[in-house]
Amino acid sequence: MSDQTHLTTALDVDAIRSDFPILQQKPYGRELAYLDNGATAQKPQCVIAAVNTYYREQNSNIHRGVHFLSEKATKAYEGARTTVKNFLNARSEKEIVFVRGTTEAINLIAYTFGRSQIGEGDEILVSEMEHHSNIVPWQILCEERGCTLKVVPISDSGEISIEDVQQLINERTKLVSMVYVSNSLGTVNPIKKVIDIAHSHDIPVLVDGAQSTPHMRVDVQELGCDFYTVSGHKLFGPTGIGVLYGREEILENMPPFHGGGDMIRSVSFSGTEYNSLPFKFEAGTPNIAGTIGLAEAMKYVDSIGYDAIHAHEQDLLAYATEKLQTIDGLRIIGTAENKASVISFVMDGIHPHDIGSFVDRQGVAIRVGHHCTQPVMEKFGIPATSRASFTMYNTREEADRLVEALQMVREMFG
Ligand code: ALA
Repeated sequence: MSDQTHLTTALDVDAIRSDFPILQQKPYGRELAYLDNGATAQKPQCVIAAVNTYYREQNSNIHRGVHFLSEKATKAYEGARTTVKNFLNARSEKEIVFVRGTTEAINLIAYTFGRSQIGEGDEILVSEMEHHSNIVPWQILCEERGCTLKVVPISDSGEISIEDVQQLINERTKLVSMVYVSNSLGTVNPIKKVIDIAHSHDIPVLVDGAQSTPHMRVDVQELGCDFYTVSGHKLFGPTGIGVLYGREEILENMPPFHGGGDMIRSVSFSGTEYNSLPFKFEAGTPNIAGTIGLAEAMKYVDSIGYDAIHAHEQDLLAYATEKLQTIDGLRIIGTAENKASVISFVMDGIHPHDIGSFVDRQGVAIRVGHHCTQPVMEKFGIPATSRASFTMYNTREEADRLVEALQMVREMFG
């Protein structure tokens, strides 16, 4: 890892930073070092402007009106869908369902695919590093349907083993649902291998892409997954908007999720006919402004390029990891070989909440807590961690500021 610390990156970080107005804030009179991108990323001016323009110039309901504004809004909404389709390299717009985020996407699959395809005695396979949103929907399903949730364990470095995946998959497995990048450990899972193993048994795979999409190019056709989820707000887009990608054949055979307007072709008391894809899964007035903002965020990421983003983030990861390790009594939780720019750590005898509050006063924003991954905390025998998560607008200087603040914490708490 240390040989990467001198890696030069092609990113013009100053220019990128100037695209994000919020980074000009000075909490407690200090420069803001925003290292909580795993929780939510900041928004570039182009995304803010796109949402603003929508409300100023396009606001109307979609798919319903024949008037000027409704046609404008519909065009913008469906245009956003095409941008998302191209961004993920889906085969068609029919495979792109707008949802609130990854949590809703997984719940949608649990309620529709789950309730129609998974029954008593069946198994769903997840990993020990899942976010609660990829555990609880399956537990609810298991309680209701009598199926079982199986868990691929993680090692002390926070990695799964492919042998365990192979062993845990059997004729009862009906779905593998796994995170690509762990939000609390930073581990990048060998998801393509997991998909290939599952597919060799004809088992569909849902990939939780909440934390991977901000860090790496995802081509759903190349990956071969059956479902993939995106949380827009972690990808520099607005909150409350996300994407469920689903293979057309599989979505086609799933019953709808929510019932209501727009998801139907015709309704009568003698029976209702559902709309075609993807509208069958989009009941009610959607977050139109959100989709437009998300599409703009994707264009922004594309304009910078994942290769440059990845190189920059890996540089920050290596640099910050090395520096953090010099702090007395600091232990990094999650030491996988393949990691995204997420560093979780604990400090002997100091509660993460005290760490978080102290560094905040130095203008450094990190997340502390269990990160909605309590089984991960249980595995490591800790209640919580402090987590710094880096993105394209972060700098080595910000990593230094985190380290300096933590050194002060060490001195203060002894
Ligand atoms: N799941 C988000 C995080 O990891 C909120 O912080």
